[in-house]
Parts: sequence; C-alpha cells; structure tokens
Amino acid sequence: MCGIIGVAIDVNNNCSEFKAAEIITKGLKSLEYRGYDSVGIALIDKNTRKIIVKKGKGKLDDVSKEYSFLLTPGCIGIGHTRWATHGAPTNINAHPHTDCKGDIALVHNGIIKNFLSLKKMLLNSGHTFKSDTDTEVVAHLIEELASTSSNFYEGFKKSISMLEGSFALAVVTTYEPEKIFFAKKESPLIIGLSKSSNFLASDIPAMLEYTNEFVPLNDGDIGWLSPREVFIENLKAGIVEIRKRKILVDWKPEMAKKGGYPHYMIKEIYEQPLALKSTFEGLISDETIIEAADLISKKDKIFIAAAGTSYHAGLVTKYFIEKITGRAVYTFISSEYKNIEYLVDNDTAIIVISQSGETIDTIKAMRSSKNRGGVIFAITNVIGSTIGREADYVVPMRAGPEIGVAATKTFLTQVLVGSMLAVNLGKSIGKINETEYNQMINTLSYSPNIVGSSISMTEGIMKKLPERFSSKNSIYFLGRGLGVPLAYEAALKMKEITYIHAEAYPAGESKHGPIALIEKDFPVFFVVTKDTYEEIASNIAEMNARDAYTIALASEEKLENLQPRLTITVPKVDLLLEPYSLIPPIQLLSYYTAVVRGLDPDKPRNLAKTVTVE
Ligand code: AGP
Repeated sequence: MCGIIGVAIDVNNNCSEFKAAEIITKGLKSLEYRGYDSVGIALIDKNTRKIIVKKGKGKLDDVSKEYSFLLTPGCIGIGHTRWATHGAPTNINAHPHTDCKGDIALVHNGIIKNFLSLKKMLLNSGHTFKSDTDTEVVAHLIEELASTSSNFYEGFKKSISMLEGSFALAVVTTYEPEKIFFAKKESPLIIGLSKSSNFLASDIPAMLEYTNEFVPLNDGDIGWLSPREVFIENLKAGIVEIRKRKILVDWKPEMAKKGGYPHYMIKEIYEQPLALKSTFEGLISDETIIEAADLISKKDKIFIAAAGTSYHAGLVTKYFIEKITGRAVYTFISSEYKNIEYLVDNDTAIIVISQSGETIDTIKAMRSSKNRGGVIFAITNVIGSTIGREADYVVPMRAGPEIGVAATKTFLTQVLVGSMLAVNLGKSIGKINETEYNQMINTLSYSPNIVGSSISMTEGIMKKLPERFSSKNSIYFLGRGLGVPLAYEAALKMKEITYIHAEAYPAGESKHGPIALIEKDFPVFFVVTKDTYEEIASNIAEMNARDAYTIALASEEKLENLQPRLTITVPKVDLLLEPYSLIPPIQLLSYYTAVVRGLDPDKPRNLAKTVTVE
C-alpha cells in the first residue's frame, strides 16, 4: 500500500526555503491512511544540490517532529508513508531509499517481485545495501544503469523495464536536480498540474490544496516532471498527450480535512446525508445509470466483484436486483476471481464496486473478466482511478473523499448506486411499470433524510452502549434476508476498528454451530429487516434462552413480538431504505467502541485504506 508524494516548485516563484518540505509533510498527513508504520522525505538542497534524507519508524507527527521535516530546505522533493511488505517497520527500512553514493533517492508503493535476483546481480557488481526492502534494489539498479547510459532518464527507463511486480515510483537525483522521475505499474500515481509547480501523489486529496487539474497515470507510464514541465511516455504506446489525459476534479480541500471533528470516521458518518444527496442528484442528472441498466439487462449473466465493505454493498445490490428483476446475480469476492473467471463470456455483465478504484484484487477480477469478453460496469468514487479508466461504463458514487480507513459514507453511497441500478434494471427488463419505477426512485430520494433521522435517533444510546461490552472478546451480528449483508458489514466495521472479534451469520444458521459459543451476556446483535420479522423473533428467543445479551436493531412497527434484552429503535421505512436506517447505528457503535477502548478509529492497526497488494 503506502502513500507517496512529490513536489517541484519553481525556485524563482514562491519557493521559500522550506516550502517543499511543508507541502510534502502536509501531503503525507493526508496520505497516512494508506500506511503509517514509518515515514520519510528526501529533498534536493537548492544551495548544495545534495540530497537530504530524513526518515524513521512511527507515525508522521512523531517522526516529523523528531527529525524536523519542516526545516528541510529545498524546492524539489519526495515523501513516503509506509505500510510494510518487505522488511519490518524500522528506521532503516523506511523510505526514501538511496543508492551507494547518495546521489539517487526514491520512494515506492508496490512490490518488486524479482528484487532477490536483481539484488544478487547488484551485489556482484559491488553495490552495498542498507535495508531489507525490495525497494532499495531499484535505487542501486538505477545507479548502475544510469552510469552506463547517455543520460539519467535513459538509465531510469532501462531500470524500470527490468522490474517485475507493482510500483509507483518517484525519484530525485543530484544528476538532474530540477526533476522528479516517475514510473507506474499497478500501484496508483497521479500527476497534479499547477502554474509554477507540479506534483505527484498516490491520491488526489494530497494535492487538492494546490490544484484541481490532474493527470492519472496508466500502467507502463514513465516520465519526469519539473516545476514548469511534465513529460510522460508509455512504454508500449509512446508519448502521452497530457492535454487529452487531463481531468478536472471538483472536490474542495476542506472536504478532505477533519473540520472540527475528533476523527475522520465520525465526520464521514455525519456527512452521509450530504454524500447521499450528491449521489442521488448525480444519478438522476444524466442517463448513465439508465444506459448501464439497459446494457446489463441484455446480458445473460450478471456478476458482481468487490472486496471488503464494497463486497457487502455488492451483496445488497444483488439482493435488490434479484428482488426487483427476478434475475439471478452472482456476487463474488474479488480475490477469488480465478475460481469464477471461467464462467465469464461475452454474454456476461460484471459490475465491479470499488471506492478507491485501486484495489488490486478487484482490478485483477475486472481485467480477467474483460479479457474473456465480459462488459465491465464500475461503481467507484474515483473516476480517474484504474478501475474508473479501464471499465467499459462508470457510474460515479460522488461520496467525496473518504479518509478514515473504515468505509462509512462510501458504503451507503455504493448501496444507493446499486439500488438505483436495480430499479432501472427492473424497468429495462419490464418487471416494473412506469408508476412503480417512479415510486421506487422517489422512495430512494429519501435516503439522505433517513440516514439523518437514524443518526439522531440512535446516537445517544450508541455513545453509551460501548461501556457495556467494550471489554467483551466476541460479538455476533445476525440477520436474515437483506439483514445478512448488513450484519456482515456490521461485523467488519466492529472488528477492523475495535479489534473485538465480531462475526456475522444468517440468523437461521446460528443453530448450526455458532450458538455453541453463547454463554451468559454474550452480545448478539440482530439486524431486523422488514422481510424477516417472524423468523428472527424465534432466533432472538433461542439466544435469550441461552442467556445471551440480545440487542435488536429494528423499527417501531416490528418491536411488539421481539423480546430482546435491549432494543435500538431506528426509523420505520420501506424495504428499499432499510440500509440507510440500520447501518448508521452500527457505524456509530463501532466508532464509539474504538474510542472507549482508546484506539484511533481512523488508523486501525495492520490496515490501509487502499489495498494495492494481492
Ligand atoms: C472497510 O472499512 C475497508 N476499508 C475495506 O474493507 C474496503 O472496503 C476494501 O478494502 C475495498 O476497498 P475499495 O472499495 O477501495 O475497493
């Protein structure tokens, strides 16, 4: 995973002594969600023209203070925040990595698969290594090949062509101190354009304060940027015309800041009504979703591929498509694509769901399906992402930037896009008439209000409830029908940020094994949806009989015959709107439990926001 950033500022234009260090440090803060076990920067000192490297184990705030990142002089520099793959998180393994003489420094996101054979070759040529990382090999390889090439860029290019694996690389060198060299394969990298400075970063929010003009790089792209120029070529397709690739992004920098909230996660939970409004308005403002539904309806098979929370949104989408259209949908976990790919042919529609658009498992599932003739429909929050660019049709989520590692507003906006797709498919296939269609769309237009009401109704109790079980070792989340994917999402949210073991099952399945764990006061949450009321009442009774601490999330109309030990009342809504009434209390519960346990909900251990490694 990891986050990388680079900036080149014109020395004669607004480049005060520590400007680049400030931009890099700020950018790294916004990229910290991608990895935060160590961090580092490298700048070219504009006076001495030497490279200054500062780096260390730990989070940005601590390392930056210890090494005075903000007092590093220079106008050209790079930075990195790490999620360790090869080599433990230590001071030495932190990026940037340098060559033998300290004339080349680079940062890398990805994995160099053939680093061992390259290292062997370079050791034989006399290079000395300091770290255990795969990345350091690239610095020495460039050193080796640049020394025998006509210029640095030629050597850089030769080195890149020898790398196997995935990489987003940014390189500074004393040989050409005005430039940052870059290359991209599989890991995301975006160029930011401005008048007298240019940028590169793993993600757009890191550059939003300075520009809204971006050039997303494709696999095989390689080049360099200086304060006033950007050169990109593709190793297969030749020189890239930047004008044609440029995209404008209408996100505002404050959208990617905490805005007075203690954590991004709680801010993003509260932003859901606004995010859903923007999703809904976007979906009805053009024909994209209608066209997508028309094309999908003509295909024999409908598959959905996604990972994590997006997979749960895929299960909700499947539920609504099947319910409304009567067509079967197969939702699979992206990393399992190899077991499914043989079923894909040119009569298959594959809906890929990915907030970041950069999840490598989902990219691979998409590419494999495309190669077999499938048509790809992407639901993503980042149009310029790899998935956004490579899919045949893209439906944007319009959730705005999500910084907290735990997906919140992006889940419900994915669900809204999926539900709108289901309704449009129903119409295209002829399963619902115009009046029913209009009614359903009108119902979905209330999703922002429902989230708002659900938050207000449950926030009080969700602040108190964690005290009751924050010391528990395990929690179950059970549901039936639509409640099953919502329970899966609840368990994922709970485990990822509170580290409490949380499992979700279809409630009916609990008797077939999981109930064995139940003992006095074991917390069991029931996510009660409209379609499952009767049966779930018996499942609650079964758990009560074993002294579990049963908690039902349900609307008032369903309370009468349920006998949980605690009821959390959510707004009473149509089936189509139940995700928006049931999910916010679960998000709040996970958030406040993490806070009570003294954890940082924005940066759960071992996790990263965008998973670009397999
Ligand atoms: C959930 O809170 C996580 N952030 C994670 O499960 C995430 O949904 C998954 O990694 C997929 O990411 P994507 O939507 O960017 O593809």
